[in-house]
Amino acid sequence: MCGIVGYQGREGACDILIDALRRLEYRGYDSAGIAVLQGGSVKIARKQGKVSDLWNMISSENFAGSMGLAHTRWATHGVPSERNAHPHKVGDVTVVHNGIIENYLELKESLKQDGRTFVSDTDTEVIPHLIVDYLDKGSGFEEAVRQALKRLKGSYAIGVMKDGSETMIAAKKESPLLVGVGDGELMIASDAPAIINRTNRFIFLEDNDVVTMTNGELKITDFDGTEVDREVKTVQWTGAMAEKGGYRHFMLKEIFEQPRALSETLIGRIREEEGEVVFDDLDLPDVSKIRKIWMVACGTSYHACLIARHMFEANLRVPVETDIASEFRYRDPILDRDDLVILVSQSGETADTIAAMKEARKKGLYTLAICNVLGSTLSRESQGVVYTHAGPEIGVASTKAFTTQITVFFMLMLYLGRLKGLLDSNDIRRHLAELKKLPRNITAILDSSAVIEEIARANMHYRHFLFLGRGINFPTVLEGALKLKEISYIHAEAYAAGEMKHGPIALIDENMPVVVVSPKDQTYKKTCSNIEEVVTRRGRVFLFTDTFDHDMASKSDAVFVIPETIYELQPILSIVPLQLMAYYMANHLGTDVDQPRNLAKSVTVE
Ligand code: AGP
Repeated sequence: MCGIVGYQGREGACDILIDALRRLEYRGYDSAGIAVLQGGSVKIARKQGKVSDLWNMISSENFAGSMGLAHTRWATHGVPSERNAHPHKVGDVTVVHNGIIENYLELKESLKQDGRTFVSDTDTEVIPHLIVDYLDKGSGFEEAVRQALKRLKGSYAIGVMKDGSETMIAAKKESPLLVGVGDGELMIASDAPAIINRTNRFIFLEDNDVVTMTNGELKITDFDGTEVDREVKTVQWTGAMAEKGGYRHFMLKEIFEQPRALSETLIGRIREEEGEVVFDDLDLPDVSKIRKIWMVACGTSYHACLIARHMFEANLRVPVETDIASEFRYRDPILDRDDLVILVSQSGETADTIAAMKEARKKGLYTLAICNVLGSTLSRESQGVVYTHAGPEIGVASTKAFTTQITVFFMLMLYLGRLKGLLDSNDIRRHLAELKKLPRNITAILDSSAVIEEIARANMHYRHFLFLGRGINFPTVLEGALKLKEISYIHAEAYAAGEMKHGPIALIDENMPVVVVSPKDQTYKKTCSNIEEVVTRRGRVFLFTDTFDHDMASKSDAVFVIPETIYELQPILSIVPLQLMAYYMANHLGTDVDQPRNLAKSVTVE
């Protein structure tokens, strides 16, 4: 996500703003910018690259002032570049923004028809244009901002300044924004780390709050201008804690961010009323000619492909072949020019996955990337790209990237199904209704995290775990085992439950706990037999299911019930307790959860 900070108080706003941006760098970004009110007009500077690059370009002298805004950009619309960086200044209005304006294309078209010209590819730029439009029609500054906000759909946290005005305005809807109340100074920020060094007194804004700050006077209203009462809270966070939003580790923060990450991945792409899925700028070849779909990735992203294969084959009736990128790139696969190759990567910089993409392109196939980082190599060099809007994933162990990858695959499956005439608008409406329940269902699981922590704490002494699942939940347990092994260093192995009799059952005794993921679907009874086989050999079972079953509960050491959903979406819910279990075991074992030994966040070498 982008980072926003605003300051109003003493002289020296520039240094304070740059220092604040440095404290937001952990969020991940590709460009930075600053705006300061100087001599009655707002002066801006922007730079693709690091905050230090921006700082080298300006200096406190030529950016003197006592009020300003600053921004670190995590690109979602418009590749990283100076002209797409924030702040955006249109006329005498300057804006910084975090979030996604879902209806920006229609607003942009309408504004262009009114003769307005745009210089960036961002969704953000429509905001200052709308404000200027209302100012030109006679509204005052505050009213013009409110009127513009009412036109926006999607998520945003914004800061606004205007030439000739001592007022700074901020507003929040779904994207995070808080107010810092300092000693003779007021601030806004995306989160506490940016300004924790200046104050520990915050107002945590709510959706539709509009903040007006003028010469140290603070007013908070709703969109209609009615004043609202917001409490100033004092938090006892250290700087390090604040970076993680109060969570002990980035990984835990990112596990708990999944409801919002999924919501943001859906924004602008699902049209429930029309019963369709839309992807901006996706220009696939003729889907009627696709005879096979390849899905290629590494690690967690590969597990997302294995799950997608179940979705695609069940609903599109097209053969899907999955492969690990480091295998695909060397085995000279037999590819047909009409095949579609989908490459998945959170970072977009994984060497093997990029090499696999080049191999496919060399053979003339269309390559589609599913990525989380705009402007990454894989996203730039593939012919098509669909982004997971998970926001920066800092923890080495991938969590929200995985669940948003599955979400994108699900939407892509619906999109292709519609194009191929296999799914009608009613089918899609029905699937979308289930998809939209996911953020709430994940929240329900997260609300029971203490239960998972107890299971983890009671079983973290084991040195080996076996994970069992069937069908679409076999890749789910592959991912659960990967999470456990890579952050807790406990050996964990996942098997298709039907394979138990073909070898793994020899491992079962009182020292081999078995994690079983089995919603009550068509293979549940078979998996119950596996549980019986484990228990009769003194093995211990931890069952994750969607329907409480007294018989299985009496045989298992623990049963965790997840909310019900359709088959294709079960992994998104089943993986959450497994992520939490891995996290809590690692945390209590004292390993370096966010930076596990020997691992890197992005494997940019072979
Ligand atoms: C996942 O927890 C691991 N950190 C690792 O397997 C990762 O998924 C893999 O390296 C692929 O990374 P990518 O998605 O950035 O390509």
